[in-house]
Amino acid sequence: MKKVYIYNTYERFWHWSQALLIIFLAVTGFEIHGSFTLLGFELAVKYHNVAAISLIVLIVFTIFWHFTTGEWKQYIPTTKNLKAQVDYYILGIFKNAPHPTRKTTLSKLNPLQRLVYLALKVFIIPLMVITGILYLFYRYPQKGDIKFINIDGLENIAYSHTLGAFLLLAFLVVHLYLITTGHTVSSNLNAMITGYEELEEDETDSVEKSDAQEKKNA
Ligand code: HEM
Repeated sequence: MKKVYIYNTYERFWHWSQALLIIFLAVTGFEIHGSFTLLGFELAVKYHNVAAISLIVLIVFTIFWHFTTGEWKQYIPTTKNLKAQVDYYILGIFKNAPHPTRKTTLSKLNPLQRLVYLALKVFIIPLMVITGILYLFYRYPQKGDIKFINIDGLENIAYSHTLGAFLLLAFLVVHLYLITTGHTVSSNLNAMITGYEELEEDETDSVEKSDAQEKKNA
């Protein structure tokens, strides 16, 4: 086995802080929604607001990081191997079939991940941020002049924000399962903690070759 550096420090920081913030926002959000009582409504609202602003700040820095490092290219969707990847998750994985795609530093995401993560970045996260900000200003109009977003009612905003929250929860459940489907049960998790992933020696040769090839092509 050989260790290959896949995720750099900022990427791991961004991934884990986003994960913690989204889980915290889900807990406080569903308390606001009335699903359970934990902190009490008022505190839940306060903490939800603080976490929401923190997430927005993180998103701004991370957009900057994606564009300055070129990492945004990881999310360009591709249909190459997409069917093979879907077949693998439905059938191959239960028959111990080999992974249809390889992880390299220049191509960390399989075609299905590219699609799902892109959808998160382009639809779900913006949906949460936009409806959340509208919600925030609508709920507390006394804090400032918000005539420029003269919305008739909260209903559609609340429905959309809650729908986004359920979609994020569904993503989280699937994501947690898929984390365990790497080379070993913990290899994906370890990679996101340490930055390094253990790959078979012969596989790392091809990783290095394909990285070099991709660098050449870039
Ligand atoms: C990132 C930007 C976000 C902002 C600005 C934001 C803001 C808000 C605000 C202002 C409220 C209403 C609080 C009140 O009633 O006083 C709210 C409710 C809620 N938020 Fe967020 N939020 C964000 C992200 C999230 C995320 C990521 C989740 C879940 C994963 C979430 C889940 C919820 C839920 C479930 C409610 C209750 C909705 C309802 O019952 O009407 N929010 N949010």
